[in-house]
Amino acid sequence: MKNFYVTTPIYYVNDAPHIGHSYTTVLADILTRFHKILGYQTFFLTGTDEHGQKVQRAAAKREVTPQEHVDEYYHRFEDLWKKMGIGNDFFIRTTFPEHKAYVQECLQKLWDKGEIYSKEYEGWYSVGEERFFSDDELDENKCDPISHRPVEWLKEKNYFFKMSAYQQKLIDHLNEHPDWIVPDYRRNEILGFLRQPLNDLCISRPKARLSWGIPLPFDPDYVTYVWFDALLNYVSASTAFKKTFADGTPIWPATYHLIGKDILTTHSVYWPTMLMALDIPLPQHILAHGWWLVNGGEKMSKSAGNVVNPMDYMEKYGNDAFRYFLAREMVVGQDANFTHDAFVRRINSDLANDLGNVLNRVHRLVLTNFEGKLPAASTIGEAETEVITLAKKVIEEIHTDLPQARLSQSIETIMSLVRSINRYLEVKAPWKLAKDPAAHDELATVLYISAEAVRLSLCLLWPVIPQKAEEGLAMMGAAFKSADDLTWGVLKAGVAFGEGKPLFPRIEEEVKKQEQQPKPKQNKPLATADVPAAMDLRVAQIKEVANHPNADSLYVLKVDAGEGELRTICSGLKASYEAAELQDRKILLFANLKPSALRGIMSQGMLFAGDLDAATHKCRLVAVPEDAKPGDRALFKGIAPSEPRELKVKDFEKISLSAKGGAVFCNAGEDSAAIALEVNGKAVTCDVADGAGVH
Ligand code: MSP
Repeated sequence: MKNFYVTTPIYYVNDAPHIGHSYTTVLADILTRFHKILGYQTFFLTGTDEHGQKVQRAAAKREVTPQEHVDEYYHRFEDLWKKMGIGNDFFIRTTFPEHKAYVQECLQKLWDKGEIYSKEYEGWYSVGEERFFSDDELDENKCDPISHRPVEWLKEKNYFFKMSAYQQKLIDHLNEHPDWIVPDYRRNEILGFLRQPLNDLCISRPKARLSWGIPLPFDPDYVTYVWFDALLNYVSASTAFKKTFADGTPIWPATYHLIGKDILTTHSVYWPTMLMALDIPLPQHILAHGWWLVNGGEKMSKSAGNVVNPMDYMEKYGNDAFRYFLAREMVVGQDANFTHDAFVRRINSDLANDLGNVLNRVHRLVLTNFEGKLPAASTIGEAETEVITLAKKVIEEIHTDLPQARLSQSIETIMSLVRSINRYLEVKAPWKLAKDPAAHDELATVLYISAEAVRLSLCLLWPVIPQKAEEGLAMMGAAFKSADDLTWGVLKAGVAFGEGKPLFPRIEEEVKKQEQQPKPKQNKPLATADVPAAMDLRVAQIKEVANHPNADSLYVLKVDAGEGELRTICSGLKASYEAAELQDRKILLFANLKPSALRGIMSQGMLFAGDLDAATHKCRLVAVPEDAKPGDRALFKGIAPSEPRELKVKDFEKISLSAKGGAVFCNAGEDSAAIALEVNGKAVTCDVADGAGVH
């Protein structure tokens, strides 16, 4: 049996849980459930980090002992995970005696092996971050670069772990295991960091300064540096607490350590070198996700008063809606923007509309036309085969994509199946067939095919929205019991459908808001010469690349169009680019082009590329200056942009764009001169032959 052991960071016990903590925990929970349904044995670990100066200070302030303080505070995390239906197998606390004994055992082992030595050390110490920083790490105000609080100059004897001795071994490991840190660019960050000589790691704090920690077994005047203690939790769960998979196999090594990008160095430099010195195998993958930002890019902080409280959302909109939003909205690795509007839009469009619609339609039609018993499919035509083929393909893709843990993409893959059922229903119009007695068999076929495809979609969505998926399945007289249910044809004709109610009621507050939004003005047709000024051309960055479910030549891209705006663009780049070449690439986006559906997926704009080879439809993407950021406007030289309006392809076709000397120019009318296209005063370029068209 295949095993999957996933961990979250252990959260600082002092912090109030916020959306950042919930995200990692929900991600771990969803990945665990996905692995479960695909037949893995799983183990999911989370917990709290309870030693260190901040805890000592908070306890002193409250006039309680640090132990009393943490015993009271860790509940906030444990309770929240319970309320959110998080299925962790163990909740570890670094103040558990087993963990403390294990940390001491490791320290003693390293001391005995000569991997730890003592020396006098002086340097800049940050109380906030509880570590020393080198001169060049400090910001211009002599503050640490993380908490931005002033540092103090400290001189003291301390104990050091010979981390530097493992630098080459770590580099070799990274080179031999290209997917050890995901995403790629985070791995490159660490390889870059390792180009500088690695220092040894100070792993002690004098008790005189900090007493709330695990005493060093070989010098009682010192306690263990909190990160050294905390990182060991991942192995201590296995070794000290003897946690195993169901069949008794030890859980270590972890399949995935899920972390935020801010704690990448501790996890991918300190941690593996500690493990190497302890002769313990390394974890298989470290996945660093981005940050949830608010108000279009601000960091959340207590002082700014902009912290999103997960409880508010769960209580108001339900657990599953909140889980769905977190997992779907953030492309693992990238930062994401949390806005209430984005939440409402996402839930209304994906869950209330797409999923809710298809389930309710099928349910209602079976109830009203077949006395609540699912009819059998008789003739399988082209449209039915298309749905069945897609359903099988989606299941396969989930199997193959899962190890990469690209959750938002997997969810999108499943939702493409849901949307295809809706399209199938639109085409077949079973509500019309129901009125025609001669179409009885066809109606039966349509309902069976749709019901089975909905059942599969709900099973596949179960890891993300467990409770609602179960309710939806029950409406169709189905349940999800094992990995065997993930095949076509499990739902049997004759099964009795249950009671029905909308799974995800539409969130009406947004409807009002959208209705209030001004409709785009219906403008008069544009004169050719006015087109360049009317085009909203912007730098955008590709965040996600997926195959179009219904068109072999198209990719479905998610691009960051600036200010946290994510757009979906369908683009025919398959003949010219591998998906990996497009990831993170900056492109030029035609942002005010009327959205249009390309084979069932709305494309919200268009991107530009120059013709390379007309016969093979190969092209080269238009490139923007290196320092351009998503959202930066591209302007035709000397032309001020006009009032924003929506343009049609017809408008764009009035002008022509082409390349010359590697740069992009516009011709707007026969006798106008070629106008250069620029971003921040620098040329927009395209690596194609002179005269090649840019579209
Ligand atoms: N205690 C350490 C981890 C030790 S693991 C051996 C710690 N704790 S933390 O509570 O500060 O942070 C835990 C996690 O929350 C980190 O992965 C961090 O990236 C994540 N987040 C904190 N704020 C966040 C957002 N705004 N968005 C997403 N995740 C963020 O670090």
